Amino acid sequence: MGIIAGRCEYRIWDREDEAVPRDVLEAEVGDVDGLFSLLTERIDERLLDRAPRLKVVANMAVGYDNIDVAACMRRGITVTNTPGVLTETTADLAFSLMMAAARRVTEAERFLREGKWKTWSPMLLTGVDLYGKTLGIIGLGRIGQAVARRARGFSMRVLYTSDRPHPDLEAGLGVERCDLDGLLKESDFVSIHVPLTDRTRGMIGRRELSLMKPTAVLVNTSRGAVVREQELIETLREKRIFAAGLDVFETEPLPQDSPLLELDNVVLLPHIGSASIATRTKMAVMAAENLVRLLSGQEPLNPVTV
Ligand code: GLV
Repeated sequence: MGIIAGRCEYRIWDREDEAVPRDVLEAEVGDVDGLFSLLTERIDERLLDRAPRLKVVANMAVGYDNIDVAACMRRGITVTNTPGVLTETTADLAFSLMMAAARRVTEAERFLREGKWKTWSPMLLTGVDLYGKTLGIIGLGRIGQAVARRARGFSMRVLYTSDRPHPDLEAGLGVERCDLDGLLKESDFVSIHVPLTDRTRGMIGRRELSLMKPTAVLVNTSRGAVVREQELIETLREKRIFAAGLDVFETEPLPQDSPLLELDNVVLLPHIGSASIATRTKMAVMAAENLVRLLSGQEPLNPVTV
């Protein structure tokens, strides 16, 4: 906050238990030159119409699907994000979800807390192994690559999908490119690392899930809408894959009546992929610097375009 306070007058919505309500945001943007936004804020034409002075939207996230970047660009508004600083932290969480889903960690903890642990028994809460298995990474960007590096330590074979081949990464990381269907068929773990765009929205649905092994685990730390959630729910309910680990959902916060909450074979987290103290601090500093740089006539460090 010091970075912004030192350079601009500011107003802040600082409630941690509630995103800024839409009517408040719409009322407040009328006279602002810059907006420090979170992924909970939808920056669309309607909002931009109410913000005639706006010059910069500094999103404190690497993803920016909450922002109509094309509309911002048409109006000469710069959009920035926070790439790089959250890569390793998010890859750690993707790996945590893989391991937790594979070894039923949260289900086992619920079992213990609910007083159901009566004796050690050979097949109690048995899961699937990760070590030496095949990992499929959908999208070999920064975070996908960081997940691949971790997988090497677990002696995993790593497959990836990408629009174009990455021979340098294939050599360096020991990963193999394949098409989506092939990756889904061959992988024991599938981890999603694509941004949400018109092309990736709903890319994992019933058909794709039906290609996965019955023993496979699906992990999503990117954006919920990349997966057709209802079709995943059906897949999990019918136990057509072993489990899923989800940090992101079509609707966030996850509605309390979501059928996902009734399933044991899914690990559910409240969108905490980058949530280490150090990383969230770096993201905040990066977004604030992008904001003040633009407002003081300098080039922002992390502009995004479409
Ligand atoms: C979090 O989801 C981010 O995009 O940074």
